[in-house]
Amino acid sequence: MKLVSLTFVLSGLMLGGIANAQSEIQTKAEAAIVKSCGSCHDQSMTPSFVDDSGAIISANVVANAAKISARVQSTTRPMPPKSAPAFMQLTATEKTDLLAYTASLLVTTPTEPTTPTTEIVPLSKLTIEPGFKIEVFGKVTGARSLAVHSSGIVFVGTGGFSDVDPQGRVSAIVPTTTGNKTVVIAKGLSNPNGVALNGTDLYVAESTRVVVYKNAVATAKSLAAGSVVTAKATVVKSSIRDQSNHHWKYIAIGPDGKLYIPIGADCNVCVEDEGASIYRMNLDGSDWELVAKGVRNTVGLTFHPVTGQLWFTDNGRDSLGDTLPGDELNILTTEGANFGFPSCFASNVVDPTFGKNYTCNESTWTKPIRDLAPHVAALGLTHYTGSTFPAKYTNATFIAEHGSWNSSKKVGYRLMIVEEATSTSGVKSYGYRPFVSGFATTTTNWGRPVDVKNYIDGSLLLSDDASGLVYKISPTK
Ligand code: HEC
Repeated sequence: MKLVSLTFVLSGLMLGGIANAQSEIQTKAEAAIVKSCGSCHDQSMTPSFVDDSGAIISANVVANAAKISARVQSTTRPMPPKSAPAFMQLTATEKTDLLAYTASLLVTTPTEPTTPTTEIVPLSKLTIEPGFKIEVFGKVTGARSLAVHSSGIVFVGTGGFSDVDPQGRVSAIVPTTTGNKTVVIAKGLSNPNGVALNGTDLYVAESTRVVVYKNAVATAKSLAAGSVVTAKATVVKSSIRDQSNHHWKYIAIGPDGKLYIPIGADCNVCVEDEGASIYRMNLDGSDWELVAKGVRNTVGLTFHPVTGQLWFTDNGRDSLGDTLPGDELNILTTEGANFGFPSCFASNVVDPTFGKNYTCNESTWTKPIRDLAPHVAALGLTHYTGSTFPAKYTNATFIAEHGSWNSSKKVGYRLMIVEEATSTSGVKSYGYRPFVSGFATTTTNWGRPVDVKNYIDGSLLLSDDASGLVYKISPTK
């Protein structure tokens, strides 16, 4: 985390010029260190906090502030060690002083503002499937993609360095005994839209790289408990193509243990080479390989709970009027399949320029399983795998529609459900209808759904980057 360490260095450098209260706390803390740590942490040991004359080495204390804070508070490996003589142990006051001082040296991770930037229109304005209710689960400015951990902690990506969250934050909503608490895991990232968990490790996709926060679950818990900890990012994949269009990345880890990641088309419509494709790689960034092409811009990937196949949304091109073309719901059945971009959109819309010599029926192209409405910006999707919804919803596909910009009337701005039906002759069809709507009128909107995920209690979570909210949808009884 570049920004944080820079700020850290600066706060270290500024030590000389800070106010008296601060130097007073520094004096007390340093005295405690000389008394309780100095006998062991002298010049013979790294880190050394006292020199040969027994005087404090302030710079080493500053440099080790995070470690000192952690080890003084640790219950399993406390400092001083339990075995150290009684006179070396910290008194309660010394401990408080020492922790206050180390905390002042660290960048305190800010908690989210409790009031979203946009006014919340009452949830009663929403229309929801009969038998269901929608509530606020958590508040995260610019909430985009969601990743749910089995502990109930929900990680939330944002579209940082843009209007939705200029701070480039990744947050976590942590359930606590006093309610759900939002903490900031990282900030200063470049459009950290994509989030995915592998065990307790959090993978984050920025525009041109993927980073991992090892044991982000523990970090989230510590932050929610009030500790000062900073999550450390390790880059697993860098130098992903830099582009100005469609660079917000959605990620998902497949049943094969690989991380799937798209590179969107760097245009409205154009012939692409690297872009308009979905790739996958090992979790350490190795074995980068193409799995699908002809995909204009997907911002929603998921794996079917039964078949394990990759399902994804794709956003159709702009500027063909309000009614063309539909967005797409696709299934990847053959690795390396071509989904038709830039020649073909939805099932049957031939591009006026790039599709001239084609129909949409080329044998080497894969059609969507379902055309969605035009310009709705279908983003995150998930299959319902919980057990609290009535049985007919099991494995149904839920799709968050962010809503239009390239349409004269606002369309989308809702959560859709796609239900599979099989005819007597064995042909599958996919019904498509609203599940939650009312985030917009035809002229104005207050909410923009982004991602939908199963929650551990059998409910569904839905993010909204305009309202800065994550909602919870569950049956009324
Ligand atoms: C009786 C000797 C002793 C005393 C007293 C002691 N330490 Fe330590 N400390 C150690 C030893 C040995 C290690 C290395 C083994 C370990 O990590 O537990 C260590 C490790 C550490 C580390 C981890 C260093 C790293 O790079 O991971 C920190 C931080 C630390 N001590 C801080 C303190 C502070 C602060 C105090 C006083 C409040 C203190 N220690 C008092 C012996 C001591």
